Amino acid sequence: MSLYKDILKEAQDIIQSESSAKDKMQSICVLLEDQIEHYDWVGFYLSDIENRMLHLGPYTGEETDHSTIPYGKGVCGQAAESEKTFLIDDISAESNYIACSIHVKSEIVVPIFREGIVVGQIDIDSDKLAAFTAADQELLETICAELSPYI
Ligand code: SME
Repeated sequence: MSLYKDILKEAQDIIQSESSAKDKMQSICVLLEDQIEHYDWVGFYLSDIENRMLHLGPYTGEETDHSTIPYGKGVCGQAAESEKTFLIDDISAESNYIACSIHVKSEIVVPIFREGIVVGQIDIDSDKLAAFTAADQELLETICAELSPYI
């Protein structure tokens, strides 16, 4: 899909820029939320590996109360613990889910690895059911892999 190719190119420009890790993450949030219609909340969580805790980093969209999430809890915590991408078509069918907004219907969480260890993740919510496809997963996994050395 050419839109996703263009977005990846823009994300790569952000990653390669001289800006700080925090600014790179913030710019990527803005890029993704602006350019992809079904992305309604885009944010990064960063790992406190020792304490098995996720801490909210840069994000765009509604404010969230969930600034810390323990490993294993919610979709984010499960992605951190299992070291796998979670693609949830219908969050109402999930028992281990932390609700951030009543509007959210589907979610994707992609871990960020450095030297095989999860150092963070990107979390995206959509107000549409089954909004995320393999194309989203591929785009986000590529961005996370390229961003990882800078986090
Ligand atoms: N829904 C996530 C929590 C983070 S918010 O979406 C910002 C979860 O279940 O882990």
